[in-house]
Amino acid sequence: MIAVEVKDLKKTYRVYRKREGLWASVRGLFRREYHQVHAVAGVSFQIEQGEMVAFLGPNGAGKTTTLKLLSGLIYPTAGEAKVLGFVPWKREIAYRRRFALVMGQKNQLWWDLPAQESFRLHKEIYRIDPADFDRRLDELTNLLEVRKLVGQPIRELSLGERMRMELIAALLHRPDLLLLDEPTIGLDVVSQRKVQDFLKFYQAEQKLTVLLTSHYMKDVQALCKRAIIINEGEIKHDGSLGEIVDRFSTYKVIELLFGGEARPEGLERFGEVFDDNFPRAKIKVPRNQVPEILSALLAEYTLDDVGVHDRPLEEAIAEIFTATKNPVAPEHAAVP
Ligand SMILES: Nc1ncnc2c1ncn2[C@@H]1O[C@H](COP(=O)(O)OP(=O)(O)O)[C@@H](O)[C@H]1O
Ligand SMILES: [Mg+2]
Repeated sequence: MIAVEVKDLKKTYRVYRKREGLWASVRGLFRREYHQVHAVAGVSFQIEQGEMVAFLGPNGAGKTTTLKLLSGLIYPTAGEAKVLGFVPWKREIAYRRRFALVMGQKNQLWWDLPAQESFRLHKEIYRIDPADFDRRLDELTNLLEVRKLVGQPIRELSLGERMRMELIAALLHRPDLLLLDEPTIGLDVVSQRKVQDFLKFYQAEQKLTVLLTSHYMKDVQALCKRAIIINEGEIKHDGSLGEIVDRFSTYKVIELLFGGEARPEGLERFGEVFDDNFPRAKIKVPRNQVPEILSALLAEYTLDDVGVHDRPLEEAIAEIFTATKNPVAPEHAAVP
């Protein structure tokens, strides 16, 4: 079953263009200049129920705007979306009870209250059955290892602990769809890993549908098989993460550990040397030439060790962004 269906969705913001200087400011009082930002410029995709999909793209790509549209926080300029059978921006209460949005950069819990007070509020708002509430709270606080912290004011918690409380608040009403906007941003490695492990376990157990934006490729690689890549409001790729690597990583990295005393000469004949730290070196070589280059290297140098690696996913994705960069001319509109 399809959980999320988005068709040619667009969100255009009209922003006032600030001008430099006094005269420009005075003129601006009479004649404001606007330009349009195509935050989401016509995206279409579908997500199956129970799928966990990564939503990737550089800053300003349109990820948060898309998630806000799917949450019904903002109205689209054009296009359609059906989420769990609902049109999000109709803001039906029945829809509100079926999804949750967690934003890593925004607090939804009361700053001065202990998490448990906010949770109780959620219980009332979502009309969660008291027995279900107790059971879920117990389960979630255990899984996320914050059981002892629920009585402490949110402001006293670390960022990682706070984020885990946000997740609990989001999941108490058992949503079918979880929209996660940078849930691990700014977290230390340990917290990041805890959130990751939790999401992996909980998503599989609950068959949750998840759309996840993250800058951390580790999150994405640990959690998602499919990635939708957005840039400048448009979808640039939608497919398996492995496919991204296959399609775009035309290079591999050969790592060498030299056996001899002296730094070997002429390494650059074999490929781009990018990490030259004798006795180690890394060279970037075309994927389809790895066998030839490898045997040539072995014939030429005394090597203690050799390794062949895929390039990190970040690099493959960054390549997609640069390969498809097509600057959009801003539209001007002078409004009296
Ligand atoms: N409320 C707004 N008013 C004007 N422009 C906005 C607004 N929200 C987002 N934008 C612009 O829309 C584009 C996409 O933003 P966003 O969806 O937040 O990107 P991302 O989450 O991928 O970093 C950016 O250029 C951003 O500046
Ligand atoms: Mg964002």
